[in-house]
Order: sequence, then structure tokens, then C-alpha cells
Amino acid sequence: MRFYIDTAEIDEVKEAVDKGWIDGVTTNPSLIAKSGRDIKKVVKDLLDLNPGWISVEVLSTKSAEMIKEGTAWAEMGEEIVIKVPMTEDGLTAVRHFSSVGIKTNVTLVFSPLQALMAAKAGATLVSPFVGRLDDIGHVGMELVEQIIHIYDNYELETQVLVASIRNNQHILDAGLLGAEVCTVPFNVLKQMITHPLTDKGIEKFLKDAKSAIIK
Ligand code: G3P
Repeated sequence: MRFYIDTAEIDEVKEAVDKGWIDGVTTNPSLIAKSGRDIKKVVKDLLDLNPGWISVEVLSTKSAEMIKEGTAWAEMGEEIVIKVPMTEDGLTAVRHFSSVGIKTNVTLVFSPLQALMAAKAGATLVSPFVGRLDDIGHVGMELVEQIIHIYDNYELETQVLVASIRNNQHILDAGLLGAEVCTVPFNVLKQMITHPLTDKGIEKFLKDAKSAIIK
């Protein structure tokens, strides 16, 4: 399983790269806005860190504009993946990008049939948003299960990138289902490493070791 970090904060990406936790980065317009920085500067800094594939989202809604915008981003580096919203125009752009060898990530996917259409358009990655489905009372992970099932049935090559992850359980479920990638917020990446019983165990071992030395 590959992990991407879902952030536009350069410090978080740097730490995750240095510690060997991640295989790529996903950004979106909200994360870029939250960083308070210019998108071009963020993308340049990300490329310098060499974290693996970097998803950058187009802001246009019409296919011709999406193609123009995405082509310009792709020219910045081979690691750039063009994130395209799951719309008719988006899929037209994905078809074009796929025909010229530009990697794509179809985003804002909330149904298995959307994922099927994205795969047929030639998407490299498809991003089902599990947390946002959970937020409205659905079970987001059921969507991931259905997409993987359909892709397996027809041997479709598009990879499932589980997005909108809120907690460890989402990652565990994605792993058990065999999703290729999870894009994970920095705090959840850290949560994956820790367990209260590990901390308690270390504390006891250190205490016992100290008392053994005194004797
Ligand atoms: O980057 C796309 C996705 O992971 C966003 O997640 O938390 O805004 O639903 P969230």
C-alpha cells in the first residue's frame, strides 16, 4: 500500500519525506488556500522535496481550459498528476491527458459508476471521498469496496486512491480491501505509529530496568 500526504504544508511534507512515510502528495484548492501561499510556489517547493507523485487540481470547469491548465502544470515535472473533478468536462480532459501520457487523478468521486466512467476515460488514479460520505450518514468504505470489485471484474488499470481520510480505521479498511493508495492528513499519519499500550509498555520496561540496576 502506498501513502500520500494530503496537505499543502511544506513542513509536513518535508518531515514525512525525511522519515520515509510517504510515496506522494495530494493537494486541493482548499488545502492550498489554507496554506496561505501562492499555488505555483507551493508546487515548486513540493517538487524540490521530491516526494513522489504530486496531485495538483485544475480550477477550470470547461474541458478546453482544464486541458490548458493541466498541460501547464504537467510541464513543471514528470511527477505532477493532474487532479480533475468528476464531471463530463473533467472526463473529456482526462481522455486527452491519457492520450498524451499525462497522469490524472479523478477527484470528488462519490459513486462506483463515476469511478467506472473515470477508468474508461483512462484515469491513472480515482479518488473516492470516504470521510465526506461518512459525514452524511453513508458508509464511505462501501464505495471503495464496490470500486475495487468492479475494477477487478474488468481488469481496469486505474488505481484506487482512498481520499478524505479521517482516521486510522479508514486506512485499516482500505488496506484490507486492497486499495492501492491512501492519501492521509499529517496527524493521521502520526496516529498510525502510536498505540497507548506501546507507550505504557515502554514506561514499564524503563521503570523495571531502573529498579534492576539499583539492586
Ligand atoms: O484531497 C482530497 C480529500 O482528501 C479532501 O478531504 O477532509 O476535505 O474531505 P476532506
